[in-house]
Amino acid sequence: MKPRVLVARELPEAAMDLLAQHAELDTHRGEIPLPKQELLKRLRNKQALVCQLTQTVDKEVLTGAETLRVVANVAAGYDNVDVATATARGIAVTNTPGVLDDTTADFIWTLLLGVARRLVEADRLARSGKWRGWDLMQLLGADVHGKTLGIFGLGRIGQRVAERARGFAMRVLYHNRKPLEKEEEKRFGVEWAEKDKLLTDSDFIVVQTPLTPATKHLISTDEFQRMKKSAYLINAARGPVVDEAALADALEAGEIAGAALDVYEEEPKIHPKLLSLPNVLLAPHIASASVETRTRMAVMAVENAVAVLKGENPPNLINPEVLDRKKG
Ligand code: GLV
Repeated sequence: MKPRVLVARELPEAAMDLLAQHAELDTHRGEIPLPKQELLKRLRNKQALVCQLTQTVDKEVLTGAETLRVVANVAAGYDNVDVATATARGIAVTNTPGVLDDTTADFIWTLLLGVARRLVEADRLARSGKWRGWDLMQLLGADVHGKTLGIFGLGRIGQRVAERARGFAMRVLYHNRKPLEKEEEKRFGVEWAEKDKLLTDSDFIVVQTPLTPATKHLISTDEFQRMKKSAYLINAARGPVVDEAALADALEAGEIAGAALDVYEEEPKIHPKLLSLPNVLLAPHIASASVETRTRMAVMAVENAVAVLKGENPPNLINPEVLDRKKG
């Protein structure tokens, strides 16, 4: 008998087809994540859950899902899954790293350039019927080339962002808890900086850390006060890494020049003040949203789930301790 899988949100056809070759599928086709009780109900007698980052998979879900062997998250981040509980229950958790790095870095640059050059405001003016023609002083933005870019979290995506800065002749600072090897710094053209120096010296600050208790509100009131008044903040990592209320206040008070966001503290809610400020560019969590990449992510999540169902090691296992448990 084929194993049974709950697909908590429909995936691109290529991924659904692949999964259907190996398992019997129960697919939730709605746009809203399954409420917890419904999720628990549909997980009964299922061996795998393939889900997206909007689906919270907490302790109650993992404890209640007695037959579950794997949670395959269709995302690089996995802060929506209680990995500790999954591990304790011997449930594998997998993610989709790597395939989205370049696409996400491209979008971080889209946000950076878009906010610096006021692209959304420009588009609105061009469509409004109020444009009176070329004007020396109209919609003046900030130059990007030759400036200093600061990256919090120089992991795989951060490195791709840094590489792209070469074309803009930028100085690139980064802050990781552990600096990279000198060789690597050379390869990516980056210099390690203390948090404070990165804040005070950068013209553009990109936050690209995972969300952990240590990175929650990494950027808040104090940090905005240290930044240049002409600086821009870009966040396409996870919303809670930036204190959204403090950001709205800093933008309103002119403590920084602007911000571009793809992620929010309580998605899909956005702080109401941000919605009315002109100096912030807002995107609805689409940094990895290219046809190619989202398809690859979904197929990868399915490959991870299928590997576990076949008793093989999945390529992107977050909690390898579950394998040790099986061996022991
Ligand atoms: C998207 O935000 C991801 O973590 O893949």
